[in-house]
This record gives sequence, structure tokens and C-alpha cells, in this order.
Amino acid sequence: MGLEEGKARATKATKQPSSPRKGFQWVSDLDWRLLLLLFFSLSILLFVSLSCSSSLRQIPSFVRHAAAITITKNHVLVPPLSADVALRKSELTRSRIAVCLVGGARRFELTGPSILDRILDEYPNADLFLNSPLDPNSFKLSLLKFASRVASFRVFKPTPIPETESQVRVLTAANSPNGIQGLLQYFNLVEGCLTMLESYQNEKGFTYDWIVRTRVDSYWSAPLDPNSFFPGEYVVPPGSSFGGLNDRLGIGDYNTSIVALSRLSLIPTLDLLGYTGLNSETAFKAQLTTHNTSFRTLAQPFCIVTDRQYKFPPTQFGVPVAALSSVGPLSGAKCRPCKPMCTGPCMADVMLRLQKGWSWIPWRNGTVELCDATGEWEEGWEGMFDGIVGERLARFRKRIGEMDVNQCVEDFEELKGKTAHWEAPPFEEICRLGLDPTYSDNS
Ligand SMILES: *[C@@H]1O[C@H](CO)[C@@H](O)[C@H](O)[C@H]1NC(C)=O
Ligand SMILES: *[C@@H]1O[C@H](CO)[C@@H](O)[C@H](O)[C@H]1NC(C)=O
Ligand SMILES: *[C@@H]1O[C@H](CO)[C@@H](O)[C@H](O)[C@H]1NC(C)=O
Repeated sequence: MGLEEGKARATKATKQPSSPRKGFQWVSDLDWRLLLLLFFSLSILLFVSLSCSSSLRQIPSFVRHAAAITITKNHVLVPPLSADVALRKSELTRSRIAVCLVGGARRFELTGPSILDRILDEYPNADLFLNSPLDPNSFKLSLLKFASRVASFRVFKPTPIPETESQVRVLTAANSPNGIQGLLQYFNLVEGCLTMLESYQNEKGFTYDWIVRTRVDSYWSAPLDPNSFFPGEYVVPPGSSFGGLNDRLGIGDYNTSIVALSRLSLIPTLDLLGYTGLNSETAFKAQLTTHNTSFRTLAQPFCIVTDRQYKFPPTQFGVPVAALSSVGPLSGAKCRPCKPMCTGPCMADVMLRLQKGWSWIPWRNGTVELCDATGEWEEGWEGMFDGIVGERLARFRKRIGEMDVNQCVEDFEELKGKTAHWEAPPFEEICRLGLDPTYSDNS
């Protein structure tokens, strides 16, 4: 189902006349062509000047990407600008990559298509491992039938995890919506993915070179950059670090990933070393440092789509909610589709007030715009979302919106047919739980 056809990443905002972003409305199609022409003339200039100073590596890679794509799309010239990226990409597509996708299905009709397009299709050799608790949104995972390689699909009924003494000593319930239990559930999800992956490896007799761990509720605005893979170093996004390390995405080789993903089983070690009062992010950092695993932070083009409400404007320890239309990279900040309420000088103001090592997110002039997330998602968010992602991805949102139990079961059958390991309640149950209002789960 040609997810790859007509990719329009860099230009997506500009191609939508219905885009909610005010500044674009006066520009006609013709004007856009002129602007684009101007843009890639500038890109070429930029490239020439930069290659002279041979400091390509210092440009943020998403800028390189954007420039490269604009040039290719318009057939001006083959972009030497992206040569290093292309080389790295071809190396990676010859390696073994596992993508661990964890968490509740929530708004998967919005996030799933972007994950398919910008991670799985981008690295067609990658095997997908899904680990997700059953809830009324689980039926949306049927969209994974559009993934090319599904190694393992697991949807389970969540049960309380007994809290051990060492867990209670090491972890704190502060700032976790569901206390220590919430943390344990999350750690269990992450480590569960590692367990699934290891059993698949044992069966097949190989080891993955790379593991990309990402969340079901992340919306990717651009492809995962091939320059995010470093042997011996765990890569995490900057910002949203809550005293430790941002744990909303992680990329690493097999050995570093084992340390990073063993979130439950390393707690006794942290206990022995005397750690207490850890939240998810500080525990994550302690895990890596105590195992002498080095890490680096690298901006990444995704955000966590959230239905939660937050005070606006955020102050000090408040959580900023970015507009999904932000240019980014948002590096895992919370986001929702909205008409931005805080841009320019307002953003600068808010960012100055946020605690740097807590909920602060990296930004530059114009890269992030904020929503007022004190209420529900605003009226008309669907149209806004479609305008941002374009018709190609929006049709998956519509597919889920129009889905009935029969279609859902059919899609799951197709998905199961291409999945090596399947562990989930019957299709009928997953589908009716979300789509049949008369259905009650009496298990
Ligand atoms: C990974 O760990 C194994 C076992 O500890 C070791 O033999 C191997 O050399 C390590 N691989 C890399 C790339 O560091
Ligand atoms: C980490 O390095 C320290 C100091 O070199 C060493 O004592 C410790 O055993 C190492 N820890 C692990 C888990 O390798
Ligand atoms: C930020 O961008 C706006 C509009 O592009 C510009 O007017 C303003 O001067 C910029 N501010 C800084 C600090 O660069």
C-alpha cells in the first residue's frame, strides 16, 4: 500500500493551502514556486559555502535532510549534500535493525502512519516488535498490517505488578500519574520488548546490530536520521529530561540497548548502589552511568501526542505542549494538533521560565509553537491534523474513523498472516472492545 509514494516531507506545510498557519494564506501556488526556487538556490549556496569549510557535520542533520529533499524533489541536481547520509543509510539497510514499539494504542490513527512512513518504510530491513497493553484503542493497531516486516506482535491484558521492597526503595511516585505502579508497568513494557526480541533472536540464530526503541504514541514529523546510530553509545533526545535522561526514544547497538532496556531487572542493582527517590528519567540515567554505558543526546523529529491537559502558559516545572504543526525537531516533547497560542516572543518568555533540566525542551527561533492545553483538543482538530500531515497519511486516520468490527477483524487477520510471533486476545475481542458499544468485557 504505497506509503512510499509521493513523499512530501520537507514541503508538507507549504503544500497545504488549508493549513491553519495564518502566514501562509496569502501565498498563491505560483508564489510558492518562486519561493521554492529561491529556497533551493539558497540551499545550493549554503551547501557550496559549507562544503568549502568542510564543516558539514556541524549542521543539524534535519537541516541537511530538508535541503537535500527539496533539491531532489525539484530535479535540479543530485544532492551531493546528502552523500554522507546516503552512505550511512545504505550501510544501515544492510544491517540487522529491530524496532521496539511500546505503549498503549491511544491515538495510533495519528501516530501509527508516521511511524510506518518515517521509521519502518525508511529502514525496510527493520523488524517490528510491538508490546502493548489491551485497551479500547487496541483495535487501531490493525494499521500495522501496512508494515512490511512484523517479527512479533504482543497485546496483553495488563495486571498489577507486585511491588518489591527494592523497587519501593529506589523509585518515587512523585510526578508519575499512576505512582510506582505506573512506573513498573512502563518499565515492564520496555523490558518486555527486549524479552520478545531475544527469544526471536535465539530462534533465528542471529543478533541485532541496532535496536530502535520508540513509543506507540509518538508522531514522527520527519524520517529517523541515519546519523543517529553510534556503536557503543546510547542515543537519546535532548530536553524533557526531568532530572535524568529523556526516555521517550532510544537508539543503540545491541550491547548498549540491553543496558538501556533492562528497566525492571536493573532496579536491584541500583538499590545495592544506594539509589533512592528515582523517577523514570533519573532511573534511566543511573542505569546507563552505573554500567559505564556512554550516551549522547541528539535532536529527533518526533513528539508524544497527548490527550492530557496542562496549565498554560507552563511555568518552571510545568509541561509545554507543542503544536503538532511546529517545524521541530521536538525531540519527544508533548504535542497535540492545535492553533498555536504561543509563538515568537511568547515562546522565548516561556522557555526562559522552564527549569532547564526538567520539562524544558530544546528550541530555536521559530522551531516550536505551543498550544493552550488547558482544555480538550479544540474543535476541528481533525482538519488541522490532516492539513499538517497531508492526504497520504490522513487517510489512515479516516480509515480508523470509519472502521467497523468486520473491517477490523479482516485487517488483523492480514496482519497476523505476516507476523512471525503472535500473542494477543482474539481479534473479535480487540475489535469489539473498541468498536462495538454493546460489547462488555466480562473476563
Ligand atoms: C557485546 O558484549 C559481548 C558480551 O559481553 C562481547 O563479547 C562483545 O564484544 C560486545 N560487542 C560489542 C560490539 O561491544
Ligand atoms: C564501570 O567502571 C568502573 C570503573 O572503571 C568499574 O569499577 C565498574 O566495575 C564498571 N561497571 C560495570 C558494570 O562494568
Ligand atoms: C525570530 O524570528 C522572527 C520572525 O522570523 C524575527 O522577526 C525575530 O527577529 C527573530 N528573533 C530572533 C531573536 O532571532
